[in-house]
Amino acid sequence: MSTPEELIAAARQAARNAYAPYSHFGVGAAVLLTDGTVVTGANFENASYGLSLCAETVALATVNAQGRLADVAAIGVIGGPIGPLGPEGDQPVSPCGRCRQVMNEAAQVGGRDFPVHCGAAEGDAIATWTVSELLPGAFGPRDLGAL
Ligand code: THU
Repeated sequence: MSTPEELIAAARQAARNAYAPYSHFGVGAAVLLTDGTVVTGANFENASYGLSLCAETVALATVNAQGRLADVAAIGVIGGPIGPLGPEGDQPVSPCGRCRQVMNEAAQVGGRDFPVHCGAAEGDAIATWTVSELLPGAFGPRDLGAL
């Protein structure tokens, strides 16, 4: 089972594949599943800016494509301005509102208010929140009778 530090390290590795030629801000996410599997994603921007996908959403869509949306146990995410060797900086990234909503989908489907570990591109600082702390009073599948 991965520690928060290991998840942040996996997210940091994933961020090296960030496609962010417009914002020059690279983000990586690592999703831990209940069996110890780690699924990663990086942000994927588009020339039509609004179509850009965040790292957390890319990773969770991949988890879903593997039939594992109900098995999310934790997420690690890092981000920072892209320098010569990839994302850099010591400011922990904060998941955007859309990603919080996508995380909530996995949390409700899995019945697990899982932790989200947020780190910086460099350094040891990690801030951890649960999904319900990131999105209190969330609207979700429960409200549509989908669970
Ligand atoms: N980004 C993410 O990948 N995740 C977040 O939670 C925050 C923002 C990406 C989107 C865009 O490619 C870049 O960071 C700047 O907003």
